[in-house]
Amino acid sequence: MKRTGASGSAVHDPVMELEGITVRKSRGLLLDDVSLRVSRNEFVGIIGPNGAGKTTLLNVIAGFERFEGALRLFGRRESRKRTRETQLRIGYVPQLFPIDPAFPILAAEAVMTGAVGRLGFFRRSGEAEREKAMRLMEMMRMAHLADSPLGQLSGGERQKVSLARAILQEPDILLMDEPTANLDIAVQREVLILINELHRRENMTFLFVTHDFTMLPAAMRRAVLLDRGRVVFDGDVSGALSSETLSGLFRYPIELFERNGRRYVSYD
Ligand SMILES: Nc1ncnc2c1ncn2[C@@H]1O[C@H](COP(=O)(O)OP(=O)(O)OP(=O)(O)O)[C@@H](O)[C@H]1O
Ligand SMILES: [Mg+2]
Repeated sequence: MKRTGASGSAVHDPVMELEGITVRKSRGLLLDDVSLRVSRNEFVGIIGPNGAGKTTLLNVIAGFERFEGALRLFGRRESRKRTRETQLRIGYVPQLFPIDPAFPILAAEAVMTGAVGRLGFFRRSGEAEREKAMRLMEMMRMAHLADSPLGQLSGGERQKVSLARAILQEPDILLMDEPTANLDIAVQREVLILINELHRRENMTFLFVTHDFTMLPAAMRRAVLLDRGRVVFDGDVSGALSSETLSGLFRYPIELFERNGRRYVSYD
């Protein structure tokens, strides 16, 4: 395994430490001895093909999956059960945002639920929170959807609601599972810019899951490649993005090349 120390100076302040994390099901191992140390303010990409275990890894960190091995969050040993305090410090944008189309909630209200944890369920969110939510929705070009019933939104629009909700939570760790997968190319770019901006401004740690290595946020410096439940690479993004590494990971001939400082990919 290659490790180039992409985490830089922040390495002394780990917010997340995984040691020998294994997830076992009757069919086999979904995660196989995964060790990972992530420092405050790092932006880590988790990249791998379908079924590699990326969502399972986020679920372990978020407390939705039983596991073997040691997990420490904010310096504290954790099992699957979490205190509410720890839970509030972890934001999660799931790969699928399941909602009941009949559930009577408007898009803006759904975004506002992100603040519920911080403010308490019975305390009405103040004007400041509401303004924050609206500003965020404007930035994400979704302000016009504020009064739309959530159940009537398109897949991409729901994805944006889910992301805005997690951002409003103001977590210390933000787990994002393919947050741009359902977005059209223009919105995808905007959301990536927003994510970059957020990372620059706030003191947050990001884990960003994707199988699309052609659309990586610029702030992502470190890549962890997952293959069949195992970490096969952990280091600088540029090191992960070689034609050989990616072809091996995706078991498909992939050619990467650069033009005018931008990276392009070509495959048959
Ligand atoms: N509850 C479960 N029981 C048994 N197998 C499971 C369970 N959940 C997931 N799996 C399997 O574990 C593997 C890893 O699943 P996971 O969802 O973590 O993959 P992924 O890397 O997120 O893939 P994708 O890119 O398709 O989202 C898959 O082969 C999946 O079928
Ligand atoms: Mg997944």
